[in-house]
Amino acid sequence: MVLAGTAVGVPTDARAATTRYEAESAPAVCGGFVASNHSGYSGSGFCDSSNAVGAAVQFTVSSPAAGAATVAVRYANGSSANRPADISVNGSVVRSAFGFEATGAWDAWTGKSLTVELAAGTNTVRLAATTSGGLGNIDHLEVAT
Ligand code: GCU
Repeated sequence: MVLAGTAVGVPTDARAATTRYEAESAPAVCGGFVASNHSGYSGSGFCDSSNAVGAAVQFTVSSPAAGAATVAVRYANGSSANRPADISVNGSVVRSAFGFEATGAWDAWTGKSLTVELAAGTNTVRLAATTSGGLGNIDHLEVAT
């Protein structure tokens, strides 16, 4: 059968998009140093934050509209301990001690996702370590709005 003259069945959703934000490059702010000594990262490296409570990496992300977004954090944690982080959006903690469990090696990267509410426009998403180990090595965020 030929369908002529009518657009069929393709929903258009202006909010359906996933954007990657690298931890090692602006506008992200890495509270430690940018490193590339463990392979498998995206972009040009990753954020190796300080081994301390409060060590942080902050991303600036944008959303076309206010609403829920899925934030996927790609990280590696070659230590033997969880490296949890408080997750803040626009300065308010929205998830306390979100787990970044051991991945077995510093070049074993994996993703952890959570859903957050974003405002329309520019938002900050900050990960701040809650234990003295600091954060795992943080590669990037992917934000699906
Ligand atoms: C090792 C590893 C680093 C990591 C650090 C840590 O030094 O090479 O990439 O950041 O451990 O414990 O945080």
